[in-house]
Amino acid sequence: MNCSLDDSDILKYKKRVQAIHETLPQYALTGWVDSPLQDHDALLTSIERVSSEIRACADVLVVVGVGGSFLGARAIQEALMPYFGLAKGGIEVVYVGLNMSGAYIKELLAYLDTKQVYVNVISKSGGTMEPALAFRVMRLYMEERYGEKVTERIVVTTDAEKGILKGIADEAGYRQFVIPSDIGGRYSVLTPVGLLPVAVAGVDIRSLMDGARHAATELAESDLAYNDAYKYAVMRHMLYEKGYTIELLASFEPGLNKFHEWWKQLFGESEGKEYKGLYPSTVNFSTDLHAIGQFIQEGSRVMFETLLHFHDIEGDLAVPFDARNEDGLNYLSNRTFNEINAISKQGTALAHAEGKVPVIQLELPKLDAYHLGYLIYFFMKACAMSACLLEVNPFDQPGVEAYKRKMLELLKEEKVAK
Ligand code: PA5
Repeated sequence: MNCSLDDSDILKYKKRVQAIHETLPQYALTGWVDSPLQDHDALLTSIERVSSEIRACADVLVVVGVGGSFLGARAIQEALMPYFGLAKGGIEVVYVGLNMSGAYIKELLAYLDTKQVYVNVISKSGGTMEPALAFRVMRLYMEERYGEKVTERIVVTTDAEKGILKGIADEAGYRQFVIPSDIGGRYSVLTPVGLLPVAVAGVDIRSLMDGARHAATELAESDLAYNDAYKYAVMRHMLYEKGYTIELLASFEPGLNKFHEWWKQLFGESEGKEYKGLYPSTVNFSTDLHAIGQFIQEGSRVMFETLLHFHDIEGDLAVPFDARNEDGLNYLSNRTFNEINAISKQGTALAHAEGKVPVIQLELPKLDAYHLGYLIYFFMKACAMSACLLEVNPFDQPGVEAYKRKMLELLKEEKVAK
């Protein structure tokens, strides 16, 4: 990791970071901090068993969930799966319950009609409106299609003890995976919440967890000088204090677009409180260099950029030599697309720094399950520290409750215009 900020300025936060590090475990919902260090062999075996069954008996897994019960799985799936078609051994995984679009769910049902289906409904509280409504639809659909066999085809991921969904699952005898009670939604991707869907899609969940374990070991360090997650948290905090109120996470691989969405939720929902916090925004380069790139280079100076770069991307293509050279591009014919992409990253960093956009660079060796597991943990650890530096609770989301309350009031009100 590197950044335009001075290391000696960053290290001025050493004592504060140390103090936060020591008090962090006192928060509720910090089970994710040490979870990757625990022995999950039995859990992973059981997830692998269920995912093998789903892959053998279904063409599609429908995952029902929203927010932290949805974004992480889709992020990993899209980052690691082929751009076109399915991974070897994996099946299609689609998502519902992440919006209230009638058109979306209606089309999904029509799409499923010619396919064999399993459903994995994920909700920690068991009562969130979007997934609850979608599950009502999916459950009736599955009962109609599979009759008594439906019990085998619905898997529930929820709290071990409480919630409406837990009651439904117990009553119906659906198979269940537990979301640990001490891990909140947006920190839960490395639990069955994320692991079952991505295993079905064909991701190696043991490598993912190995990477997370490596991160949990390395980033347990309390000394800011040796903890890159804490350094990243301090850098973004310092930039925020200097008036940069927007962080742009930028990647160079389109498969990371959904990972951006997960990152946005993690930081936005953890930090945006008490009228404070950096606004987390994302761009994918080089696509967005031809769109929002103009604003980044020359618009209001309110944003800094975090460039996320994976050195090794599986799959590459050499620029072909063309004797006609009508496009004048033969000078690139000794290069591959990924090499040109990496150079475009260097060019972007230089141009944006010149345009007075502070740039933080995060670099990982390879885009694979192991390093993605590492990065997920890295961001969660950084996010918790960053929110604490702002003096807000990283683990609650009171603002989300406000919208839910208002919507329920309106839905229950007879006078709502139809
Ligand atoms: O981070 C969070 O806690 C939220 O985004 C939740 O994950 C989201 O609201 C879904 O909640 P639940 O899993 O209870 O349905």
